[in-house]
Amino acid sequence: MSVIMDGISKSFGNFKAVENLQLEVKEGSFFTFLGPSGCGKTTTLRMISGFTYPDSGTIYIGNENVTYTAPEKRNIGMVFQNYALFPHMNVFENVAYGLIMKKFKKQDIKIRVQKYLEMVELSGSESKKISELSGGQQQRIALARSLAMEPRILLLDEPLSNLDAKLRETMRAELKRIQQELGITTIYVTHDQTEALTMSDQIAVFNKGICQQVSTPEMLYDKPANSFVASFIGEANLFPAKKTKKGILLGSGAELITLPDAEGEFALIRPASIKISKIKKPEMNCFEGVVSEKQFYGTHTSYTVNAKGLSFKVNSVHQADGYYHEGDEVFLTIDIKDITLVPEGYGGTYK
Ligand SMILES: Nc1ncnc2c1ncn2[C@@H]1O[C@H](COP(=O)(O)OP(=O)(O)OP(=O)(O)O)[C@@H](O)[C@H]1O
Ligand SMILES: [Mg+2]
Repeated sequence: MSVIMDGISKSFGNFKAVENLQLEVKEGSFFTFLGPSGCGKTTTLRMISGFTYPDSGTIYIGNENVTYTAPEKRNIGMVFQNYALFPHMNVFENVAYGLIMKKFKKQDIKIRVQKYLEMVELSGSESKKISELSGGQQQRIALARSLAMEPRILLLDEPLSNLDAKLRETMRAELKRIQQELGITTIYVTHDQTEALTMSDQIAVFNKGICQQVSTPEMLYDKPANSFVASFIGEANLFPAKKTKKGILLGSGAELITLPDAEGEFALIRPASIKISKIKKPEMNCFEGVVSEKQFYGTHTSYTVNAKGLSFKVNSVHQADGYYHEGDEVFLTIDIKDITLVPEGYGGTYK
């Protein structure tokens, strides 16, 4: 089922938590709300599930206006950050809970519980206590409990944030597999850009209650709508930029040639698109600097280079003339097409 948020706003007292939200989640897609703490992600999710009603605007599930429909009438599954499992019940009872409430037949409940425990790869754990399960296993049970209701839409509020890095990675892949297997419309909330970029068909980036951009992961990275999105997604060199005859002036001193139609108050240059070398190149935007920091990651090396009164982050994969070190004089080359100009985002730039 698709979800449409049409001009949704929600305030708490004078505080605007969500403002004039306009978006469409396509049927069967994996859609992520991404943004820093307090930007309105959970509030938006709660309005979709019906635990909170908006002050204005309309919410549709498919063609149905559900803006003020009670949560239990929406047939939406929600997995909370803290799982909210029942500690005094075993695994079977937890997964079966909603089905028992809805007075499903005993045999049907058994079949469904088995099916979804198998899907989350925890068959055979029916009689275990919740306290006997690891964080990752509890997370899977919470997911199975939601899925067992066979909801029209699955809402997940930071479901992986309690897990360690390795388990998060495994669960990301698992969640995505299950979502695709069921083809269920899924809305996922996170403040972690890696989760958002790796799992989503579409991402909505929020800041201070305002949706800044809705796009595919690739487009968010390559064509951010403004300085907030540019700084929140991926690593960025982001400088205030003034237009000059040939291009732009970065900060106080670096003039770069840009494409003639480039417009915007900020210049975005991704660290991976800057080339670093010992030798001056004949290309247009090539200038000298000094390495002030080097961090070796194995897959790449990250340098901070001071040049023209600015500090540039450079990620280098291929080291044409070996590694560079603090104090080395180097040349940075930036291709015209790797300079993206963006307007200032609502709420400024993410720091
Ligand atoms: N019931 C409430 N009463 C008053 N203010 C609230 C209420 N619920 C949320 N808020 C405020 O609205 C803003 C958005 O909250 P929300 O929970 O949607 O943020 P979030 O994006 O989910 O953040 P986090 O990543 O920390 O979970 C916050 O500033 C929060 O303090
Ligand atoms: Mg939240």
